[in-house]
Amino acid sequence: MNRIDLPFVDYQYPAGKGPPGLFMLVGEAPGKDEVKQGMPFVGRSGKLLDKNLQEAGLERGQCLVANVFRYQPPGNKVGHFFLSNRAAEAVGEKLAVEFGKFGGKSVRALFAAELEYLKKTIAEKKPKVIVTLGATPLWALTGLGGIVALRGKLQECRFVPGIPVIPTFHPSYILRGNWAAEPLFQKDLAESRKILMA
Ligand code: URA
Repeated sequence: MNRIDLPFVDYQYPAGKGPPGLFMLVGEAPGKDEVKQGMPFVGRSGKLLDKNLQEAGLERGQCLVANVFRYQPPGNKVGHFFLSNRAAEAVGEKLAVEFGKFGGKSVRALFAAELEYLKKTIAEKKPKVIVTLGATPLWALTGLGGIVALRGKLQECRFVPGIPVIPTFHPSYILRGNWAAEPLFQKDLAESRKILMA
């Protein structure tokens, strides 16, 4: 059996029914504040997300807030979930190659259930629109890389065809001093709201 000995934070499910469809946000993985409070996006990134959601006319409580990985990786490095073929061979680990490569690496088989869970949740909840925050969820939901070129450009969810995906920045990128990206982040959320309300 593969027991994963890492802090775990489940998705935040929306309270009540909300607008004409479900709005879903997908981040990377929880950090220490999320582990402490047992909820995704409650630290500095979450506060910036909440502020921008509000300004875009979206209510956080009506959103499904998820992460690709529900485990906090050591040192908050999402690289923990991926290995190159060579590294996997060297440590005798299996890879979940069916999800495709992310930056030349595959997801470790140990964490494949996280992608399966994300897929199952999307298939069940059928969100009207999904916003991906950063490179990891963009890859998870579309198989694509290149967040800079793709942000704000409508994609399709590879797990459930027909569900629109809007890639945008991760709030932590803005918090790292890239404040010029905040209006674009806000614009992407506002465009996504239009899809939600259509
Ligand atoms: N960053 C994420 O990607 N997810 C969280 O829940 C918190 C910070």
